[in-house]
Amino acid sequence: MKTDLLIIGGDGDLALRKLYPSLYYLELNNCMPADTRIFGMARTGQTREEFHNKIYTWLKKSVGDALFSEEKWQSFASKIWFAQGDATKEDDLASAKSEYFDNDNHLVIYLAIPPMIFGKVCGSVDKCGLNKPTTRLVVEKPLGDSRESFLAINDELARTFSEEQIFRIDHYLGKESVQNLIALRFANDIFEPLWNSRYIDHIQITVTETVGVGNRWAFYDQTGATRDMVQNHLLQVLCLMAMEPPACLNAESVRAEKLKVLNALRLIPASEVQDLTVRGQYSSGYVDGVEVPGYTGETSDKYEVDPNSQTETYVAIKAEIQNWRWSGVPIYLRTGKRLNKRHSEIVIQFKQSNHQIFEKDHSEHRANQLIIQLQPDAGVSLRMMHKIPGLDAGIPVEDGVLNFSFDENGKVTHDAYSRLFFDVLRNDQTLFVSAAEVEAAWRWVDQIFAGWKETSMSVQEYPAGSRGPALAEELLERDGRKWLNEGFE
Ligand code: BG6
Repeated sequence: MKTDLLIIGGDGDLALRKLYPSLYYLELNNCMPADTRIFGMARTGQTREEFHNKIYTWLKKSVGDALFSEEKWQSFASKIWFAQGDATKEDDLASAKSEYFDNDNHLVIYLAIPPMIFGKVCGSVDKCGLNKPTTRLVVEKPLGDSRESFLAINDELARTFSEEQIFRIDHYLGKESVQNLIALRFANDIFEPLWNSRYIDHIQITVTETVGVGNRWAFYDQTGATRDMVQNHLLQVLCLMAMEPPACLNAESVRAEKLKVLNALRLIPASEVQDLTVRGQYSSGYVDGVEVPGYTGETSDKYEVDPNSQTETYVAIKAEIQNWRWSGVPIYLRTGKRLNKRHSEIVIQFKQSNHQIFEKDHSEHRANQLIIQLQPDAGVSLRMMHKIPGLDAGIPVEDGVLNFSFDENGKVTHDAYSRLFFDVLRNDQTLFVSAAEVEAAWRWVDQIFAGWKETSMSVQEYPAGSRGPALAEELLERDGRKWLNEGFE
């Protein structure tokens, strides 16, 4: 069946920076069905040629010389049209419909626009007859800033579209390394018997970035690291790491298992928020040898920076999943901007037997660790003990690392959004987030914000280019643990 893809907000930042390059990767990998047509809709008039030129400039920059092919661009461009119009207006959509859309084709509508106009756009889509049972709608974060605001946005979408029609993007689910987590857990039977509180001491999930908030200050100041990263990306990774084996790999099974994890997350009461969470904000410092301003010292002519902002650019949380498998296993989450390294990983720290038979132990890490690296390099490492070669008396041991790199398994020539576009075109919701999941994630995050508010918990400064606030180290030290920082020194 032929598909028409309508990108509303079609010449905006998200579309130009992310969406067209990702769609180009589908073309590059011969994964774009030949009869797909892509329409970028925007209010500012331009010819098809001008529109192509704009996309071409961004695309070349974004995909780089190695993956850019003039021939592929030509075939990609032949699928792209520009449709002028204001999608909140029924008349504009109706004229785009009569000019471009074939009633027999499937239609995918991507809302690359702020959520506050979702409702109006959906209303117009409906009124002008573009919402057929096969129409799909793609939206992405920010989907609200609390459970309440999410429900309001969702109600607006639900007035026009059913849950089966709505594809909520969390781009972390489109990452190869995140899908590899599913493969690692469920395609390798050796892990399953160990994957529980009996054998696992604790888990750490780290997503650190070196970038600052740049020209997104105004948005970010209303958002902060917890809403921007934890509510969605980190909790989705946590779900895949902790969920029960789904009956099969379809949307219904996977999303149901993830939802159970979110619903089992222990809500952090205000009385414990100071002990279980850390909020940080970067001050000026050096990242990769370059001096950078602090969060409140960022400047732009587009917005006014609040010098007293208490928005967190770093957060660390000690979470707990209250279910049979995980009760009693702390799950430490941390994420932040302007840290010393871009690095994302999950560390599974196994327990250690109380009885030791080796006299000479040169190891700091005696208990086994499974380290799942998500980015920039993707792979798995297992920390394990081995004998130190030589004629030393007895059997002296130390720890070593068994490494497996996913990247060596073939070059990836697409990005997270390409994978998700591919699935939207195939009508597969497995790697998309259900409304119930988003709601449950907000419920947990809202409670943390309520605790911070009630206790007036302030942000701790950390210098840009550092490992984050000292209090984040203390969060683990209090439990006799430390951040494992693989690749993060
Ligand atoms: C986005 C956040 O969702 O994810 C950004 O809004 C963040 O603040 C980005 O930088 C991180 O994504 P990635 O793929 O670079 O890890």
